[in-house]
Amino acid sequence: MESFVYHMPTEIRFGPGSEDGAAELVRKYGGHRVLVVYGGGSAVKSGLIGRLTAQLEAAGLTAVPFGGAQPNPRLAHALEGAALARAQDVDFILAVGGGSAIDTAKAIAHGAANPGTELWDFWLGKAALTRTTPVGVVLTIPAAGSETSDSAVLTNGDAKRGLNSNFNRPVFAILDPRLAATLPKFQVACGVTDILMHTLDRYFNPVSDNETTDALAEALLRTVLRNGPAALENPGNLHAMSELMWCGSLSHNGLTGLGGKKDFAVHQLGHAISAKYDVAHGVSLSAVWPAWARYVAGSDGFRRFAQFARQVWAVDEAGDEAAARLGIERQTAFFRSLGMPVSLPELGFGVLTEGDLADLAARCSYGHSRTIGSFMVLDEAAMAAIYRAANEA
Ligand code: NZQ
Ligand code: ZN
Repeated sequence: MESFVYHMPTEIRFGPGSEDGAAELVRKYGGHRVLVVYGGGSAVKSGLIGRLTAQLEAAGLTAVPFGGAQPNPRLAHALEGAALARAQDVDFILAVGGGSAIDTAKAIAHGAANPGTELWDFWLGKAALTRTTPVGVVLTIPAAGSETSDSAVLTNGDAKRGLNSNFNRPVFAILDPRLAATLPKFQVACGVTDILMHTLDRYFNPVSDNETTDALAEALLRTVLRNGPAALENPGNLHAMSELMWCGSLSHNGLTGLGGKKDFAVHQLGHAISAKYDVAHGVSLSAVWPAWARYVAGSDGFRRFAQFARQVWAVDEAGDEAAARLGIERQTAFFRSLGMPVSLPELGFGVLTEGDLADLAARCSYGHSRTIGSFMVLDEAAMAAIYRAANEA
């Protein structure tokens, strides 16, 4: 096990009815004038924005609405929000929605608190965050885990980048599983995939003597595999959606990777796909995971993937390679059962050309300048080989 520091300060209010605590929490964390950040309208349609606005105003707080965050949220929209936040003297940002609204809120919070800095420079690593505006979250979709994560993912033109910083941790997160009952099935499937992937992208790493964290990760994966299909079948299934929502936060707040060495290669491969084709985050991951898994599984003599197959999929093959391959097959079949793509052509853009594959690898390597992964370190040629294999699958 490697040494680690774990600081997860987000206050969590979990359960049906927890949305009623929003105004009290905003006050508790010093908010008076609140920018309410949401997406394309689902939270307006469900009545949630109306209820939250009424709640804030009844508590003597001012609500400034800012809708329009889109999936794969854009820098330009966040800059607009930061300008509005400054003009309206906002001192708190309330994100209502999923990863797109939350990451937009995080970017606005940084922009509002740092008017002298180019916002994108934080994502490029050219400027360091030293302050931000407090962000609270009312979550409506279990998926990205941004409600407790230290990450914010933004798209600027051709580039989709993540920024990791403890300044990205919201001060509170309201997890009310009833709010996810209106989700379309496709979004539930994307969410299940993303939640699994946040733990898988940590679990497959080169540290092999990390029992507690491995056991937490395996339990979380089994829980999502059990409850994901039930939530997909009926998003109003309170038990299944509760498990999913709690797993969504635990999967990406760092817990399931403590003491390990973060890999996250599949996320990096997926971000290049989302940036090029503007597809949902979840499908960008499932489309490439099987090809990635087959490419890297043998790098430690199949030991890690065999452990995954036995602990998560109850595979009882004696040989590590056979067990590992069966585990990959079962996981791939699970994604397929959710209706998720498990190859690049299934994304709907046809079989990609060699030029497209090279372009994806160039994007993923940040223009030939980085490797990704830790379980197996992948250079640009390896990225291209994985995209090529995903193109053939
Ligand atoms: O925009 P609206 O109209 O609200 O509709 C949304 C959107 O179309 C809809 N939706 C959300 N809650 C709903 C609902 N529809 C009906 N009823 C509800 N209760 O679902 C669609 C997807 O929403 P979005 O916020 O885009 O989903 P998700 O939570 O998957 O977020 C995806 C974004 O988060 C980033 C992704 O890259 C992507 O940009 N990620 C952020 C992370 C982080 N900050 O830690 C980690 C993740 O790995 C991920 O990269
Ligand atoms: Zn993700």
